[in-house]
Amino acid sequence: MRIGVLTSGGDSPGMNAAIRAVVRTANDYPNLEVIGFIKGLRGILYKEFIYLNERSVSGTIEKGGTFLQSSREPRFLDYNYRQIAYQVLNELEIDWLVIIGGNGSFNAAYKIITESNIKVVGITGTIDNDIYGTEYTLGYDTALNTATQAIDKIRDTAYSFGRIFIVEVMGRDYGLLPLDIALATGSELVLIPEYKIPTPKIAEKIHQYKVKGKKHVIVVLSEGYCSAFELEKELNPILKKYDSNYELKITVLGHIQRGGNPTAYDRIFGTLSGQKAIELIINNQNGFFIALKNNKIEPLPIELAIKNKKKLNHQLVNVLEQLAI
Ligand code: F6P
Repeated sequence: MRIGVLTSGGDSPGMNAAIRAVVRTANDYPNLEVIGFIKGLRGILYKEFIYLNERSVSGTIEKGGTFLQSSREPRFLDYNYRQIAYQVLNELEIDWLVIIGGNGSFNAAYKIITESNIKVVGITGTIDNDIYGTEYTLGYDTALNTATQAIDKIRDTAYSFGRIFIVEVMGRDYGLLPLDIALATGSELVLIPEYKIPTPKIAEKIHQYKVKGKKHVIVVLSEGYCSAFELEKELNPILKKYDSNYELKITVLGHIQRGGNPTAYDRIFGTLSGQKAIELIINNQNGFFIALKNNKIEPLPIELAIKNKKKLNHQLVNVLEQLAI
C-alpha cells in the first residue's frame, strides 16, 4: 500500500514528530510505502512529492514548522480542482492519505473521503485547539508556552513603568488559547470572542485594578475579539479620563507563537498520533482522526469534527477573574 502524508494549513510545532512517526511506523510493515506531498494539498495538484524512508525523517523531531512545508490551498474548495487531485492520487497509486492540519484541512479530508476512492486518516495540527471531539491538538502546548514566556518578558516592562499592556494573541475565533495564556501569566483580564465586554467596562475594570494598588495591568486579547489597535483607539481616551497618567501599550505576538521547537509534550503527542495513524491504516479504519479523549489517544470520525463546533469551558474565565484581584 502507498501512503501519502501531508501537512496543511497553519504549521504547528510537533508536525515533524508526527510525520517521523508515520514514516518510521510504516517502516515496520514490508507492504507500506510513504511519500510526502510538498506544501500540503497544493503538492497533490502540482504532483510535488518526495519518497520518505526512515532516514529522511532523521533530525526532525525537535524542529518547529513542517519540513514538508504547508499551504492554505483555496483551489481545493473547487470541485473541479479536487477532481484533478483525485486523478493525480490515483496515478500515483496512493491508497491512503495522512492529513495533518486543523479544521480547514479536516474539511478537505472529509471531501476526499466522500468523493473519491482514497482513504484518509487525520492528525490534528493546530495551535488553536479548536477541533471538536478532541481535548488536544498538536502544537497547542508549545504555542501556549511561547506566549507565556513572551508575556513574562512584557510584564517586566509593564511593572517597571507601571503600564497597562494589551497583548494580542492568536487562536482564531476560539478563546481557549488566549484564556490559558491569561491563566498561565496571571494576567488581569482576558478578552475572548465568546465573552464580549463593552469597552467602557474594560476601562473601568483596569482602573479598579489600579485603584486597588496594582502596579501594572496585562490584558490578553484574542485576535478573534478585535485587533489590539482597534481596542487601543477606543480604550485610551476612556482610560485617560480616569487618570491622564495612564500609559497604554500594545503588543501583537502574532506568528512568534506558531514557531519554535516543540515542547516535549508536543513531540510525544505528535509521535503517538503518527504511530496510531498507521495502526488505523493497518486496520482499514477509513475517515478517522486521532483524538485525545479522557487523556487517551483514540480514533474519532472526521465527520464528527467538521460538523460540530468546539465549546469553551466558561468557568475558566471566572477562575481568572477570581484570582486577578
Ligand atoms: O490556525 C492557526 C493560526 O495561527 C490562527 O491562530 C491564526 O488566526 C491563523 O492561523 C493565521 O494564519 P496565517 O499564518 O495564514 O496568517
